[in-house]
Amino acid sequence: MYASLSLLSAVFALRGAYAAIYTDPSQLPSREYDYVIVGAGPGGSVVARRLAESSTTNVLIIEAGGLPDDIEDVAIPFLSETLTPNQPWDWNYVTTPQPGLNGRSIDYPRGKLLGGSSCVNDQAWTRGSKDDFDRYARVTGDDGWSWDALQPFIHGIEQLVPPADGHNTAGEVIPSIHGTNGLVGISVQGLLPNLDGRIFNTTSELSEFPFNEDMNSGDTIGISWGQYAIRNGSRQDAANTYLEPASNWDNLDVLINTQVTKVFKIGEESGVPVIRGVQFALNSTSSVYAVNATKEVILSAGAINTPQILLLSGLGPTANLSSLNISAVVDLPFVGSNLQDHVFLPNTWQVNSNLTYDDVNRNQTLFNEDLAQWRNNRTGLFAAASSAEIGWLRLPEDDPIFETVQDPSAGKLSAHYEFIFIDGFLGTPPATGNFLSIATNVVSPTSRGTVTINSTNPFDFPLIDPGLLNSDFDIHTIVEAIKAARRFVGSPAFSNYIVDTVIPANATTDDELAQFARDNAGTVFHPTGTTAMSAWNDTSSGVVNPDLTVKGVKGLRIIDAGILPFVPAAHTQASVYIIAERAAALIKAAASS
Ligand SMILES: Cc1cc2nc3c(=O)[nH]c(=O)nc-3n(C[C@H](O)[C@H](O)[C@H](O)COP(=O)(O)OP(=O)(O)OC[C@H]3O[C@@H](n4cnc5c(N)ncnc54)[C@H](O)[C@@H]3O)c2cc1C
Ligand SMILES: *[C@@H]1O[C@H](CO)[C@@H](O)[C@H](O)[C@H]1NC(C)=O
Ligand SMILES: *[C@@H]1O[C@H](CO)[C@@H](O)[C@H](O)[C@H]1NC(C)=O
Ligand SMILES: *[C@@H]1O[C@H](CO)[C@@H](O)[C@H](O)[C@H]1NC(C)=O
Ligand SMILES: *[C@@H]1O[C@H](CO)[C@@H](O)[C@H](O)[C@H]1NC(C)=O
Ligand SMILES: *[C@@H]1O[C@H](CO)[C@@H](O)[C@H](O)[C@H]1NC(C)=O
Ligand SMILES: *[C@@H]1O[C@H](CO)[C@@H](O)[C@H](O)[C@H]1NC(C)=O
Ligand SMILES: *[C@@H]1O[C@H](CO)[C@@H](O)[C@H](O)[C@H]1NC(C)=O
Ligand SMILES: *[C@@H]1O[C@H](CO)[C@@H](O)[C@H](O)[C@H]1NC(C)=O
Ligand SMILES: *[C@@H]1O[C@H](CO)[C@@H](O)[C@H](O)[C@H]1NC(C)=O
Ligand SMILES: *[C@@H]1O[C@H](CO)[C@@H](O)[C@H](O)[C@H]1NC(C)=O
Ligand SMILES: *[C@@H]1O[C@H](CO)[C@@H](O)[C@H](O)[C@H]1NC(C)=O
Ligand SMILES: *[C@@H]1O[C@H](CO)[C@@H](O)[C@H](O)[C@H]1NC(C)=O
Repeated sequence: MYASLSLLSAVFALRGAYAAIYTDPSQLPSREYDYVIVGAGPGGSVVARRLAESSTTNVLIIEAGGLPDDIEDVAIPFLSETLTPNQPWDWNYVTTPQPGLNGRSIDYPRGKLLGGSSCVNDQAWTRGSKDDFDRYARVTGDDGWSWDALQPFIHGIEQLVPPADGHNTAGEVIPSIHGTNGLVGISVQGLLPNLDGRIFNTTSELSEFPFNEDMNSGDTIGISWGQYAIRNGSRQDAANTYLEPASNWDNLDVLINTQVTKVFKIGEESGVPVIRGVQFALNSTSSVYAVNATKEVILSAGAINTPQILLLSGLGPTANLSSLNISAVVDLPFVGSNLQDHVFLPNTWQVNSNLTYDDVNRNQTLFNEDLAQWRNNRTGLFAAASSAEIGWLRLPEDDPIFETVQDPSAGKLSAHYEFIFIDGFLGTPPATGNFLSIATNVVSPTSRGTVTINSTNPFDFPLIDPGLLNSDFDIHTIVEAIKAARRFVGSPAFSNYIVDTVIPANATTDDELAQFARDNAGTVFHPTGTTAMSAWNDTSSGVVNPDLTVKGVKGLRIIDAGILPFVPAAHTQASVYIIAERAAALIKAAASS
């Protein structure tokens, strides 16, 4: 039941008459598309806009989710934690039982909206380190992925804007290393009078926690003011920055509420399969539609869904496909393997202050006042993210773990673990008391996981096994991170502030801390690596070439977090904007050559 879209030449498409946001595939005009892009997260949104900047290039982007515009909590920076899990705009995935987490399965949110996970994330803007990108350049043999080569793209994305509370940010960010004309507004966090001074005084009191004036300089190490994708007190996501402002361009069609079910071969060139067909449907019982791109199909469905689409399409490890009776189009042994993610673990102390976030999280009157203020003029508590400062830290060089494990970090500018400072209890606070939380996260893991499928129905969930805390190195790192957080709040600056350790109470030995971590850790939501890039002609790893074209086929590229061969020691959204900007430039260059 293919409601086939007849392929009219672009010449017949009345320019200006078509471009729009379509909510049902049956509305889509008959039109020839140069590029069909699957998924509108940072990867897909950036590339769609950049390709459509050429008015003679017709672009269709297909997104499974709806519009974020009417969901107020998407816009309110402070309320990002309410956006997942178990919401209609979340894919609502759950992992397989995790041996490293004592057999627990955990929620694995992914945004399902125009804008993708950038509409539901916590807005932290962390580019990663110079070493992270230089490693991408090294493993792919393409210097264009190096930190220095990427600088024009990195600057081009950003516009450094004032924080919502308007305070003077001198010394909190280095303006000269940021962009001034990009589409994504970036700002430092608002002031937290009870916490900022203590955190930054600790950086001069304890030399193992140095101050870093700007963690986005290429050298991430130390404690920095957090930077966030927030402009004028509201979230900046891929939809409201890159895509929606372009959705009235006459050569960019945006189709929402529609899930791509597979990509398919439309022919061969010199014996190589050409994958330029895309199949899609509203839901599992509705009509299936198809469209062929004349130039390329670009998969940007994210590190979980892109491998799912490839596997459903017969692009994956042949043996696994045959066990599901999917006929292999080409053997791509590494699709869905090499899943990497960061481990998240909150530690909490009771504090001697009444200025924390806790009251707003348990007092509806106060909550309503803050909400009213945000609605009134986009200021106040709700205009800022719920995290504050961020630290990127390394294990000591003489840590005995390095006698048995080769350092998995990208280099000395990349962290082994992260601190995220939160001015209150994470989750629903107890009825009384005020709290400080520090999330201690593993950010250069050696654990690896998989994304695979056990069903040929595209509407069934993929099986997600991030393999969290599956290695001695990762469990060692998280234990050392908890101990480091305790040293941090043991500084003189916190001496009249910390009242008691609340979480983990009573855990002191390494074994007890490891058990606490296994019982309580979650994800920082940074899946990467499942469709990794590797060098041209590398057959021992990778799914895409350094230009992000899929190995062994023509007409198909991948542009999302899955192409990163290593998870950066950073929150991942900025990396995805960065790779998508360069990828768009590569596509334009290839098309004009
Ligand atoms: C809860 C949460 C908090 C996070 N916090 C931060 C943070 O503070 N800072 C940070 O830097 N990063 C954060 N991240 C990670 C960051 O948001 C992601 O790394 C980034 O959005 C990945 O971009 P992407 O384009 O690869 O994929 P996504 O943003 O996930 O976009 C993929 C898009 O493809 C669509 N799609 C999937 N399958 C199909 C299909 N079959 N057909 C059509 N469309 C499809 C999805 O609906 C989605 O819109 C967070 C993520 C989550 C989930
Ligand atoms: C931080 O240090 C400064 C200078 O020593 C001092 O004046 C200030 O009170 C300290 N603040 C905190 C919160 O410890
Ligand atoms: C796509 O191309 C294939 C192979 O050329 C063709 O059979 C099919 O009809 C085309 N689909 C559409 C929707 O035009
Ligand atoms: C699927 O979409 C059709 C419209 O094409 C709608 O009538 C039907 O209710 C939908 N089914 C589900 C399960 O959402
Ligand atoms: C695959 O096909 C074989 C032969 O038709 C059938 O016996 C088997 O049940 C199928 N397996 C699956 C997973 O569908
Ligand atoms: C393929 O099958 C092997 C063996 O069962 C398994 O280890 C691997 O995770 C599977 N990979 C994918 C992507 O399905
Ligand atoms: C916080 O504590 C101060 C000093 O004890 C007190 O003056 C103030 O009223 C308290 N504020 C709230 C909101 O409880
Ligand atoms: C809740 O907040 C309001 C507004 O600040 C305040 O008047 C009230 O006393 C608070 N209620 C409790 C139980 O603390
Ligand atoms: C914003 O509105 C609040 C009241 O809701 C007011 O107290 C505050 O001064 C206003 N801020 C600005 C910058 O207008
Ligand atoms: C910021 O938001 C306020 C309130 O919505 C609005 O009045 C103002 O114009 C915005 N400022 C900018 C620079 O967008
Ligand atoms: C696939 O995995 C899901 C989730 O683990 C499970 O509920 C389902 O029964 C599995 N399906 C098959 C055909 O094995
Ligand atoms: C910690 O130990 C004390 C004393 O044994 C006990 O009263 C308390 O309940 C324990 N706390 C937790 C959170 O287990
Ligand atoms: C890849 O291999 C092919 C065939 O051996 C060769 O022609 C090509 O130059 C190689 N490409 C690179 C970048 O090494």
